[in-house]
Amino acid sequence: MLTARLSRPLSQLPRKTLSFSDRGNGTRHSLPFYSASFVAVGRRTYANSVNPVGSKAVLVTGCDSGFGFSLAKHLHSEGFLVFAGCLMKDKEGDGVKELDNLKSDRLRTVQLNVCKSEEVDKVLEIIRSSLKDPEKGLWGLVNNAGISTFGEVEFTSMETYKEIAEVNLWGTVQVTKAFLPLIRRAKGRVVNISSVMGRMANTARSPYCITKFGVEAFSDCLRYEMHPLGVKVSVVEPGNFIAATSLYSLEHIRAIANKMWDELPEVVRKDYGKKYFDEAVVRMQTYCNSGSTDMSPVIKAVTHSLTSATPYTRYHPMDYYWWVRMQIMTHLPGAISDRIYIH
Ligand SMILES: NC(=O)c1ccc[n+]([C@@H]2O[C@H](COP(=O)([O-])OP(=O)(O)OC[C@H]3O[C@@H](n4cnc5c(N)ncnc54)[C@H](OP(=O)(O)O)[C@@H]3O)[C@@H](O)[C@H]2O)c1
Repeated sequence: MLTARLSRPLSQLPRKTLSFSDRGNGTRHSLPFYSASFVAVGRRTYANSVNPVGSKAVLVTGCDSGFGFSLAKHLHSEGFLVFAGCLMKDKEGDGVKELDNLKSDRLRTVQLNVCKSEEVDKVLEIIRSSLKDPEKGLWGLVNNAGISTFGEVEFTSMETYKEIAEVNLWGTVQVTKAFLPLIRRAKGRVVNISSVMGRMANTARSPYCITKFGVEAFSDCLRYEMHPLGVKVSVVEPGNFIAATSLYSLEHIRAIANKMWDELPEVVRKDYGKKYFDEAVVRMQTYCNSGSTDMSPVIKAVTHSLTSATPYTRYHPMDYYWWVRMQIMTHLPGAISDRIYIH
């Protein structure tokens, strides 16, 4: 219907009248204008759900801490059978212990480094053999595992660019490809955790932004391809929840900064100088303490994408500052948005 509406000639579109006052003589004039009138009909809310969750199974990656850890617990409380992929399962990490301590047969932690194909294959086997009927497939995959760093382009080594992409981008692609046959059988859901930094870039964040822009592109391609097969693909783009998760810590920032400075090419070190570098590190440390400590908007968004009959393509759990900034950065010409936020 929308396609028909968009391809209709202008003259056939609903005609509306725009009124304006003429300051000069105090009269009102009317101008006809044409609108595609995209009035929201039956607007989706976070309430409609696929009922019942029943024995639906989901795999969440990166459950040792942060969003993944909370998601595993929340989805379990919603009734899902949860496979929680943990990087530190074999090393008995704290997050793993806490999840295992729930002692539920509906929450199972599994060793999963998303960069290691042998671990991905092993988890696939574990899940396939745990499902009552593997031919009915796996309902959901949440690609949440991620890492980050900071630093200007000239401060960032190629090794760092590749390291971040290995987890955030190639890890997401690898896990998704492995699980798609099961997800297709269930006509299920793929939910990719991107970031507001997957929509708009920022200074000193290029290694992270590149990977999240990649996750966005991958998700769009996958969504187009999966639509005819009944699989729904959503992207969740959290804003700043740094204070709520383990993505950054002061020690982490300090360790990155020390390594970065030690490895800087002499010309970069000399041109920028230690003062500039140290100020950039302090800015990043300040950022570390910012953001929301309440991660429930992210948890709600992922839950909706897994349970709604009509999940959104993109979810924006972020505060107004980041939402407005994202709209301006993605809708206005670069010359204007750069002026507002960058220069
Ligand atoms: N926090 C935010 O403000 C924010 C904003 C936008 C997007 N995000 C995204 O949200 C997702 C979750 O991050 P978070 O903020 O919850 O940070 P987090 O607490 O650090 O969680 C990320 C998890 O991924 C795990 N991980 C790292 N490398 C992995 C690998 N190779 N294989 C499997 N798991 C791996 C980490 O394990 P270890 O702890 O053992 O390293 C950690 O448990 C990430 O994709 C991140 O980019 C976060």
